[in-house]
Amino acid sequence: MGERYLSIEGIARRFPSAKGETTVFEDLWFSMNKGEFACIIGHSGCGKTTVLNILSGLEAPDDGAVIVDGRAIEGPSLDRAVIFQSHALLPWKSVLGNVAYAVASRHRDWPRDRVRAHAERFVELVGLKGSEHKKPAELSGGMKQRVGIARALSIEPKMLLMDEPFSALDALTRGTLQDEVRRICLESGQTVFMITHDVDEAIYLADRIVLMTNGPQACIAEIVENPLPRERRRLDLHKQTDFYAVRNHLIDFLVERSRTFKNSLPAGYDRRRPSVVRPSLAGEPVLSATRRSVV
Ligand SMILES: Nc1ncnc2c1ncn2[C@@H]1O[C@H](COP(=O)(O)OP(=O)(O)O)[C@@H](O)[C@H]1O
Ligand SMILES: [Mg+2]
Repeated sequence: MGERYLSIEGIARRFPSAKGETTVFEDLWFSMNKGEFACIIGHSGCGKTTVLNILSGLEAPDDGAVIVDGRAIEGPSLDRAVIFQSHALLPWKSVLGNVAYAVASRHRDWPRDRVRAHAERFVELVGLKGSEHKKPAELSGGMKQRVGIARALSIEPKMLLMDEPFSALDALTRGTLQDEVRRICLESGQTVFMITHDVDEAIYLADRIVLMTNGPQACIAEIVENPLPRERRRLDLHKQTDFYAVRNHLIDFLVERSRTFKNSLPAGYDRRRPSVVRPSLAGEPVLSATRRSVV
């Protein structure tokens, strides 16, 4: 980790509305290093999916730009794979067929058996060996989501973008998939930007958590650095010293400050450099309004 990969530079998004125009957000700044896992949390409608669509290149910002690897995003790219909440699989293709389809579009010059072998590797990685010939209709929600993950990973993107990827799953399946995604991302040094509304999921997975205020005209209130050790385990989270400090901080934001933040901006608040907070049981969160969110 350490090398700057992505930089969101003053982006805005506006839509026509009954009142003329609604600004979902404007002057939004955030950057990420290679290999970093960032989660964004905020209430429904604040613009999280819009941010993710802009990162994927599916939507363009009305102002500002997103720089990836030194170049402004100008459209979708196989360098950035998206995992949606609903799986968007091709219903007539098998598990393996869905993954192979993505591999073949990434590597148009590969012969069939190479595409197949590569796809098989990723089907196995997400624990679907034995089900590779099933069609989406024969799969549970969790299995479909695994196919979505295998498909995204199989094109070996430089970045994964995930929009509430586990929210439609039962708790047990969600936990297992969280474990797998974390393992795969740590092993491969994947850079990840993920939307979630589940604070425990954010604490388990993220290195940093972006707190977005309510919309319209949402802004980034704060960046929370995860105080938990990198070698954390999902089932032991609650035994970590700082777990409740960070959890309470996030819940307090969602319950109260996401609504009130804009009305009483902290002194020195700078949209380019929101405060970085590292909640800890040892004392009050360390607030550093002047520190850059990414150095
Ligand atoms: N294509 C669109 N046309 C008009 N309004 C939109 C469009 N896409 C999103 N919005 C509005 O932008 C706001 C943010 O939406 P979204 O990014 O989906 O929020 P979130 O993912 O945080 O729930 C919402 O008020 C939504 O109604
Ligand atoms: Mg959304």
